[in-house]
Amino acid sequence: MNILVTGGAGYIGSHTCVALIEAGHTVIVVDNLCNSKADTIDRVKEITNKEVIFYKIDVTDEAKVDKVFLNHDIDGIIHFAGLKAVGESVEKPLDYYYNNLVGTMILSKLCQKYNVNKFVFSSSATVYGNNTVPFVETMELLPTTNPYGETKAMSERILTDVVKANPDFSVSLLRYFNPVGAHKSGLIGEAPNGIPNNLMPYVAQVAKGKLEKLRVFGNDYPTVDGTGVRDYIHVMDIAEGHVAAIERLNEGVNIFNLGTGQGTSVLQLVKAFEEANDIKISYEIVERRLGDIAECYADASKAKRELGWQARRNIIDMCRDAWRFEKNYEG
Ligand code: NAD
Ligand code: WQD
Repeated sequence: MNILVTGGAGYIGSHTCVALIEAGHTVIVVDNLCNSKADTIDRVKEITNKEVIFYKIDVTDEAKVDKVFLNHDIDGIIHFAGLKAVGESVEKPLDYYYNNLVGTMILSKLCQKYNVNKFVFSSSATVYGNNTVPFVETMELLPTTNPYGETKAMSERILTDVVKANPDFSVSLLRYFNPVGAHKSGLIGEAPNGIPNNLMPYVAQVAKGKLEKLRVFGNDYPTVDGTGVRDYIHVMDIAEGHVAAIERLNEGVNIFNLGTGQGTSVLQLVKAFEEANDIKISYEIVERRLGDIAECYADASKAKRELGWQARRNIIDMCRDAWRFEKNYEG
């Protein structure tokens, strides 16, 4: 298939381009590079030894995106392009609502215009809010605590309504848990700007000596050791989940958790990183971070049952691959 990948220069998008190309698909990337670099596309080409068509375009620029649809015979679209920093979304809500919602609306509109009937959307486990774990796709969504999470819940509703009005249009809403790690080549991975907000890149930068020590946000949660529990999933497993989702897209709205189903605490992740890479990670326990929940992990059975996909890489693989990338990365 010819697949339009928006946000394909980003962290999850670039790994998904590799997985798509390796599965025999052709990718056309649209990215405005607001949170990524063009050389990531070169690295995808290096890994796969295949061409990647790349347009530096903003998905909210309808006229320019229209030309991409006009110039390519697109079979399906995977829409990653969006802003994703939870804290920043509280400070700049309009940037988040505009970018993430207008992007989704323009792309679904152009899909109708050009008769592109397969649409895979990057949603997030954040839409479950404070439900009880494990999170199951059938759960009623609870309000999220930030504009970023709202843009995901709203995009899901927008796409669901577009399907209702256009029965030929099929959508997959993929709710990712905590993507971490990197491609095994070490050529592409997660390279956040500034000080990382997320745990794994923070730990990797402590390992590198870029940051002095990890601050563990709270050790008084009702969890195995008091620290927050998350469902970390290797980014290449997430990438392969997208290939399965677009290849096996059923009609209507398809919702899938992309997680491992396993919870790992902050201190368990630190220990796994130390073991996988033989490096000591200094840390201190500090106050809880505002907005954090105690536990978040998936019921991952639906994707296994219906897509034939399940995560194959474990927490040691995730820590080893995250470190390989961080070690090599000069950014
Ligand atoms: P990322 O920032 O690395 O990738 C997003 C890409 O989209 C970037 O390359 C950025 O330049 C591009 N982009 C943003 N706005 C754009 C616009 N208007 N036009 C064109 N390009 C634009 O983030 P990621 O971690 O790869 O996340 C990809 C998607 O998955 C996002 O929608 C994110 O919200 C979602 N998601 C991420 C996580 C996570 O923990 N990383 C979890 C759940 C969901
Ligand atoms: C994981 C655990 C922290 C940093 C976020 C978004 C979510 C999704 C994925 C997009 C928690 C603890 C973290 C640190 C720490 N993104 N931690 N010290 O918060 O589960 O999810 O990214 O959809 O929407 O909210 O991920 O990696 O930030 O935190 O102790 O320096 O690590 O408290 O328990 P989170 P995270």
